[in-house]
Amino acid sequence: MTHVLAIDQGTTSSRAILFGPDLTVVSVAQEEFPQLFPASGWVEHDPADLWSSTAATCRAAIEKAGLHATDIAAIGITNQRETTLVWDRATGKPIHRAIVWQDRRTADTCRALKAAGHEAAVTETTGLLLDPYFSGTKLKWILDTVEGARARAVRGDLAFGTVDTWLVWNLTGGRVHVTDATNAARTMLYDIRRGRWSDEMCAMLDIPMAVLPEVRDCAADFGVTRPDLFGREIPILGIAGDQQAATIGQACFRPGMMKSTYGTGCFALLNTGADPVASRNRLLTTIAYQMEGQPTYALEGSIFIAGAVVQWLRDGLRLIRSASETQPLAKAADPGQHVVLVPAFTGLGAPYWNADCRGAVFGLTRNSGPEEFARAALESVGYQTRDLLEAMTADWSGGGGTALRVDGGMSASDWTMQFLADILGAQVDRPRVLETTAMGAAWLAGQHAGLYPGMEEFARTWALDRSFAPAMAAEDRATRYARWKRAVAAAQAF
Ligand code: G3P
Repeated sequence: MTHVLAIDQGTTSSRAILFGPDLTVVSVAQEEFPQLFPASGWVEHDPADLWSSTAATCRAAIEKAGLHATDIAAIGITNQRETTLVWDRATGKPIHRAIVWQDRRTADTCRALKAAGHEAAVTETTGLLLDPYFSGTKLKWILDTVEGARARAVRGDLAFGTVDTWLVWNLTGGRVHVTDATNAARTMLYDIRRGRWSDEMCAMLDIPMAVLPEVRDCAADFGVTRPDLFGREIPILGIAGDQQAATIGQACFRPGMMKSTYGTGCFALLNTGADPVASRNRLLTTIAYQMEGQPTYALEGSIFIAGAVVQWLRDGLRLIRSASETQPLAKAADPGQHVVLVPAFTGLGAPYWNADCRGAVFGLTRNSGPEEFARAALESVGYQTRDLLEAMTADWSGGGGTALRVDGGMSASDWTMQFLADILGAQVDRPRVLETTAMGAAWLAGQHAGLYPGMEEFARTWALDRSFAPAMAAEDRATRYARWKRAVAAAQAF
């Protein structure tokens, strides 16, 4: 048994990636599934789609590699975080569709809890803010809305889970109801300092604790797969939320190391070591990973729109036909124009947390065209990352941070990464392997199986593809960033 199967269940697709004995990618299978928008600001997934696309891609990846279940030592799972599911323990049937992390339906609940003075306790206990982004208010909504659900939950008949929990439940044929510390840390129900579910948070949201899964380390025994699924029982030995798995895959194991992943959104995590750091700048305090009962904490900045801004150029504005056209267009933009795009399509995440803000464009002239829009779109990703890093620098005095490690689809764009280095005034490092999220999950499971090396040796295998050094004049950087800050302020005032 020489291979590890990583499951990466994301927001828009499910992927299965087989890693070989030296942690290289052997095969990849991917399947998209429908995004459901039943009302404005609501985003749902069909739980059956999450499971069937995962099972199908696992089988496809194994087949593509010409391997068998007997070649696979372990499964590692990484997943879109916060997305909330509730199902019947006896039948395994969900009582509602999955409410996705992007869903804003509980904004009023969050506003009311904030007005009642609950935010300080939420932050103190969970490291999070009172925002619809997290699972807690979504779970409350399901229990409030589905008839009879709360009573069934009190009786212990229902199970709650984030996507990792749902997948393990199905992989093990309903035998195991678990999660890991990183996913638990995103629910707004978990006490990240004490390492257990919080009675206080559950009471505040009226959540019966009988619905909660058991929380384990990221590298642990999460049960074995149903024998009929792959032809043999395969142990599940690793779980981490996708941004935490990317932090692991990027080998950000020392305090002060940070990574930024550019997918649909952008999520930057700074390793702060064994102690949680309370943010004074509206970042989140979260668990980066937990090994042998020891949590390592992180400060996290979450931006909701990064790669999605390119999708908007393509599907919304129809300025491009494919994402790859963006970089050449941006390069051709008129340097004399200063078009600024604030992509607050679903509100603003860190450090503003303004659920009501919407997108805006500033500085248009009669000459502004697709080129300037493309440049403004790519630059908005750099500006937003600078916002996060400003907040992180202000919150963190532990040193150690020299460069930002990047990954995710957009990190492949040299132009965008150079602008990022320029506007941050900091070095940006892109690794050779961009499958960092899946690699993090594979490493967790593989090292628990005794196949892969320990943390330090794994960190030494991290290899640089290209380093981007800041080349912009300090004055230019300051002028541009000030323009961005004015644009964000104006968008929020609109
Ligand atoms: O917090 C949400 C994040 O985990 C989603 O990631 O890559 O599926 O968009 P992604």
